[in-house]
Amino acid sequence: MEDDDAHADVIGDVLGSEGHQVTIARSGADGLAALEGDGGVDLVVTDLRLQDRDGLEIVARCRELREDRAVPQVVVVTGYGTVEGAVAAMRAGALHYLQKPLDVGILRETTRAAAERIALERSHRELQTTLDKSFAFEGLLGQTHSMQRVFDVMNQIKDTDATVLIRGESGTGKELVARALHRAGPRREGPFIPLNCAALAEGVLESELFGHEEGAFTGATARRRGRFEAASGGTLFLDEIGDMPLATQAHLLRALESGEIVRVGANDPIQVDVRVVAATHRDLDQMVREGRFREDLCFRLRVVQLELPPLRERLADLPHLAEHFLQEAATRHGKPGRELSPEALDILMSYRWPGNVRELKNAMESMVLLSRGDVLAADAVPAYVRPAVGETPDILKALSGLPADDVEKALITNTLRDVGGNRERASQLLGISTRTLYRKIKAYGLSRRENRAEPA
Ligand SMILES: Nc1ncnc2c1ncn2[C@@H]1O[C@H](COP(=O)(O)OP(=O)(O)OP(=O)(O)O)[C@@H](O)[C@H]1O
Ligand SMILES: [Mg+2]
Repeated sequence: MEDDDAHADVIGDVLGSEGHQVTIARSGADGLAALEGDGGVDLVVTDLRLQDRDGLEIVARCRELREDRAVPQVVVVTGYGTVEGAVAAMRAGALHYLQKPLDVGILRETTRAAAERIALERSHRELQTTLDKSFAFEGLLGQTHSMQRVFDVMNQIKDTDATVLIRGESGTGKELVARALHRAGPRREGPFIPLNCAALAEGVLESELFGHEEGAFTGATARRRGRFEAASGGTLFLDEIGDMPLATQAHLLRALESGEIVRVGANDPIQVDVRVVAATHRDLDQMVREGRFREDLCFRLRVVQLELPPLRERLADLPHLAEHFLQEAATRHGKPGRELSPEALDILMSYRWPGNVRELKNAMESMVLLSRGDVLAADAVPAYVRPAVGETPDILKALSGLPADDVEKALITNTLRDVGGNRERASQLLGISTRTLYRKIKAYGLSRRENRAEPA
């Protein structure tokens, strides 16, 4: 916004040559109208003294323009000797001020810095939206690309009755995902019935699943409903499905195909209305090859398969998870205000976490209980949480001999993608300053598109 034509043209030219789409407003009133128009404005360059408006008013108005769109960044242009006005504008929230006569080089530099800032805020906002999306599955945290992919699939199938197979190492959150699917879907008012298939002997498992009639076997003194019937209208969660005996697998397959079960010792089938979600830490394909799992059941269960990545493969999520479990444990044990020290976090980040999220949760609880001060220092980290010494991690072995630049470029690209393009977080994880990160992004020619999480 500039009512001096010559200045307006210079500013317009410079911004245009930087590749921005420019609207020139020759009065404050026109400028405000453009701001409130449909297009949305990222950057405002305004004279501090317009004939019809005070530049401060423009700055203030920009700050109010919240709603769902970005607050525009403002650069004010001041006449000679009005530094006080510039200071007031900065206080009111302007990003920068420029003095007349305008130096084109400085104007260019300032707009570049503003553009960076705008892009950064945009990626923050996008990250926030992704976060909101993941919180739709209450209690399930995960900002990394791999977890966002899981959430995307969950979002796609939550309104269906599709059978889901959840695979993942111990403690990666399989049961949490199963519960979240139940809660997010149309069966949420119905029961969620879990059954651990590994814990029961074959006969007991059959009768737990399908129920039995009185006198079906010795000790069956009364007729009993099984979990399938109990889960009617809701979800049956078959945990450790890989440990189900082959005979039971055959009965389960029949139930899934027909929507009917037969109680042990009964003749007539009973209709059931159940959504089945199964989980295992085993490699079912391998088991199928070895003849230990029925291939047809495997296909039937795997209408949708969710693969939960181990924590060591999504370390970018660790700080957030650690903080979450820390606060949860602190509240539960009446020790609010605990904080994790950077040194302690470093140790947590270098551990392999064979027990995954559950192990992290337990570690955070023990740290809360055993720490003396408010800050959880390195010595509060449980003794077993130590980097594997003397052993080169597989990933590093795989990298040996590759050009260092390629490795660094891939490392930066993947880290940025995992944190949704948030450069501040990425630089924290990589242990370099944001400036260094910016330099490397430029040097490797990484485009913004590559930096963001791809939409699924
Ligand atoms: N993404 C996550 N966000 C928050 N908490 C999580 C997440 N994943 C797991 N947890 C927590 O970690 C613990 C273990 O999760 P869960 O019991 O679902 O794992 P599991 O894969 O079923 O493990 P197992 O194979 O040993 O049965 C739970 O307390 C759960 O709340
Ligand atoms: Mg489990």
